[in-house]
Amino acid sequence: MAEAFLQVVLENLTSFLKGELVLLFGFQNEFQRLSSMFSTIKAVLEDAQEKQLNDKPLENWLHKLNAATYEVDDILDEYKTKATQFKQSEYGRYHPKVIAFHHKVGKMMKEMIKTLDAIAEERRNFHLHEKIIEKQAARRETGFVLTEPEVYGRDKEKDEIVKILINNVSDAQELPVLPIVGMGGLGKTTLAQMVFNDQRVTEHFYPKIWVCVSGDFDEKRLIKAIVESIEQKSLGDMDLSPFQKKLQELLNGKKYLLVLDDVWNEDQEKWDNLRAVLKVGASGASVLTTTRSEKVGSIMGTLKPYELSNLSQEDCGCCL
Ligand SMILES: Nc1ncnc2c1ncn2[C@@H]1O[C@H](COP(=O)(O)OP(=O)(O)OP(=O)(O)O)[C@@H](O)[C@H]1O
Ligand SMILES: [Mg+2]
Repeated sequence: MAEAFLQVVLENLTSFLKGELVLLFGFQNEFQRLSSMFSTIKAVLEDAQEKQLNDKPLENWLHKLNAATYEVDDILDEYKTKATQFKQSEYGRYHPKVIAFHHKVGKMMKEMIKTLDAIAEERRNFHLHEKIIEKQAARRETGFVLTEPEVYGRDKEKDEIVKILINNVSDAQELPVLPIVGMGGLGKTTLAQMVFNDQRVTEHFYPKIWVCVSGDFDEKRLIKAIVESIEQKSLGDMDLSPFQKKLQELLNGKKYLLVLDDVWNEDQEKWDNLRAVLKVGASGASVLTTTRSEKVGSIMGTLKPYELSNLSQEDCGCCL
């Protein structure tokens, strides 16, 4: 029941985010954040529903989730109704009614994000099996360019990650891999973009490569994407071996930085295969990856996963 309704609201959010109302009247990031949090929670719902019968706290958690889902649905409805009226009346962004609306939605969203954050955090207590249900094709493709016009907080986190990457002394046998782990919408990609574009990183690593993984962790697809990113041109199809050879030529002896953004792969062997090809770099060459899954973090990481936490209340206040 909870799962079916959550799915409906998630679909409403997705189509709403593609529409023009949100572009005209704002709160895109916040709705995107809610949608990402729902996706994260959805991954454990099947298991939760099966186990709730003999588990009172889990049943309560599902009730809370259900109530929160209804609230998000209400906020979305109210937003759509009001924004449609404003659009028809041709009110600009600075009309008093629009300002009042902004204030109200901002407040509701802030509370909602806090509530859902707590619900998403609480899911960890139940050790539920996470099912990867995300339709990979629907995921947003990311690039290295920081698209968020104003990033709040995160300077400390950026600094810590830059230092870990730069000061990391590897024993050449092992390619250092630092996973940034955290739930959907928390800002992992944004943080990785900040790190990627940091001057110290640019001076330290060459080449710097950004690959948005999101979909299937297919060795050939990823190697091709890495080669294309280095050579800055698209390539035709080839067998795996020539791609592997090409990549090794390009990375051989180089202190490169590879960002693998948004990884979902939990198959150790697939990662081992790619890692074997990447091993030809110079000592200090590193991989930075972002993932929602702790398991992915532990499969890939040679360095302690960087667990991203929520923005502080103050920084969050600035976003809204
Ligand atoms: N520190 C921040 N300040 C302002 N906006 C931010 C910040 N961090 C993230 N955002 C915005 O929040 C949204 C989600 O961020 P991002 O894509 O980085 O999250 P994510 O953790 O990578 O999510 P996912 O698991 O879905 O890939 C984006 O629109 C981004 O621009
Ligand atoms: Mg991301």
